[in-house]
Amino acid sequence: MGLRIVDFSQLTAAQRVQAAHVLEAAFAHLPAAFDGAFAEEVQTFFTELGRAAWAALDGDAVVGWVGRIEGYEYAWELHPLAVHPAAQRRGVGSALVALLEERARAAGMLTVYLGTDDEFDGTNLFGQELFPDVAGKIAGVVETNGHPFAFYRKLGYEITGLVPHANGFGKPDILMAKRL
Ligand SMILES: CC(C)(COP(=O)(O)OP(=O)(O)OC[C@H]1O[C@@H](n2cnc3c(N)ncnc32)[C@H](O)[C@@H]1OP(=O)(O)O)[C@@H](O)C(=O)NCCC(=O)NCCS
Repeated sequence: MGLRIVDFSQLTAAQRVQAAHVLEAAFAHLPAAFDGAFAEEVQTFFTELGRAAWAALDGDAVVGWVGRIEGYEYAWELHPLAVHPAAQRRGVGSALVALLEERARAAGMLTVYLGTDDEFDGTNLFGQELFPDVAGKIAGVVETNGHPFAFYRKLGYEITGLVPHANGFGKPDILMAKRL
């Protein structure tokens, strides 16, 4: 794969449409993801203050993209990250995260953080009551079914918190962060 990563501002109209398709395909296992408004989500990275995104191109085709949101003075939120299923496990996701971290560092950020929901039984937290002692559950989290938290952990992110029942009973959001 001849991978190139470009700023969203360099995308053609056709590539913006492809970015929406990548988002839809990558999150097809989560029917409620982005409320189905994939093109609108892409659009926010052109119109909303504090947002920026980068796309991975294979030739001229968008195969993945990552966004950042300026959440704090010294920390950016990574959101979203999507790689088309046909292009997964070939280093695209890690290349996008590395680029985002490089940009964050250059902008003076100290931390990158993100939330990764478990809505599909991807970890041993799924279906569980996490109260009381929510923080105590963090040490024992393991991936059971290809959850991306294992991907982020490989890239140096650690779990910094849990939001129990964020997406319904037993469907927590897993908060992760990395020191740059
Ligand atoms: C998570 C995602 C972005 C990973 O992208 P990718 O291009 O497949 O990842 P890479 O090929 O760069 O993988 C880097 C490493 O993580 C591992 N990895 C990738 N996905 C993984 C997963 N779901 N579980 C465990 N490990 C994973 C790879 O095997 C690789 O390990 P290695 O370096 O030892 O070979 C991609 O699977 C995706 O878009 N998933 C659907 C959308 C999603 O869940 N986004 C994140 C929401 S927070």
